[in-house]
Amino acid sequence: MTSVALLTSGGDGPGMNAALRAAAQTAGARGVAVVGVRDGYDGLMDGRFVPLGRSATGTDGFDSNALDFVARQGGTVLGTARSERFRSPEGRARAAEQLKQRAITGLLVVGGNGSLTGAHLLARETGVAVMGVPSSIDNDIGCTATCIGVDTALNTIVEACDRISDTARSHRRAFVVEVMGRQSGYLAMAGAVAVQADAVVFREQQRAPETLVAAVADVVRKAFTERGKRRVLILKAEGVEVPTMRLVQLVEEAVKPVLPDLEIRGVILGHLVRGGNPSFLDRMVAARLAFAATTALLEGASDEMVGWQSPVTGGITTSDASVRRFPLEMVLAETARLLDGTSPVTQRRVGLMSKVEGVLQL
Ligand code: F6P
Repeated sequence: MTSVALLTSGGDGPGMNAALRAAAQTAGARGVAVVGVRDGYDGLMDGRFVPLGRSATGTDGFDSNALDFVARQGGTVLGTARSERFRSPEGRARAAEQLKQRAITGLLVVGGNGSLTGAHLLARETGVAVMGVPSSIDNDIGCTATCIGVDTALNTIVEACDRISDTARSHRRAFVVEVMGRQSGYLAMAGAVAVQADAVVFREQQRAPETLVAAVADVVRKAFTERGKRRVLILKAEGVEVPTMRLVQLVEEAVKPVLPDLEIRGVILGHLVRGGNPSFLDRMVAARLAFAATTALLEGASDEMVGWQSPVTGGITTSDASVRRFPLEMVLAETARLLDGTSPVTQRRVGLMSKVEGVLQL
């Protein structure tokens, strides 16, 4: 293989740049030319490539040596997109043609579920050699214990909730803090334990709205009337269908008879948890995943994703004991099970949370 292209796709995350840098270094060390693709699959279909690597000079204003120091930087220096056009076979064929015209025979995709689905279809339909690196703050990708961006997102959630707890305690208030995660409650679950939340609500609990309101109201009521707490913090995953401000209003109404003066506030962290410089763990995981994926790509692998300390059996071992390669078809099937709750991984996570729920309220 004489030339590979790197692209970042879907929701960005802290650590993507560390993956790009490691991939460029790995390929460069083997004398393979490296190009970057601007703005994910959209840039791939439109032929927006920039040279990367040790000696290339930047074009299109892109400093190819910028990768030297971007591992510490959040976001993705190449840009990313959620590409509707790439969902069509015609779009994928156009992408393959762009690569062929430049004699690029390998593509590394750093992204989440939608991006890895596109990578799988591209490989299957066009024969382009594609390797996937899991990047999603939601931690909603199968065959990997974590994804690029998750650890930094959790650290951001801890920092934000510590700050919110300071003011909540001062005013003797309850807060409902919503965190991202799309259909996965992982950030809310893991974050709740770390921030000493009094309760956590996430889609996988499958609670009806009225049951959800009653459960949260009960936690709030007991905390203030029976345990004299000065702060109550409820972590809520964005996948829960009751809107956060509506939940705040309903809980406030439910506890008013016994807590007429209690103020409850809602905070939606939103895209805050997507930004920031990557943590040590995200930089380390990103670099090792990208190294293994690029090495495999250069050795002829395709239509696979590299997973970190995978919680499922199988896969192909790599030179890194923490990294195994899985067929993208298997990854996407396990991802679907993660999200529909039939995966043992989801069942273990939800089961653990239900065991600690009583402890959370202490
Ligand atoms: O998939 C990552 C994620 O941050 C989700 O948690 C969130 O629901 C979604 O992306 C937001 O998408 P966008 O950045 O396109 O608004």
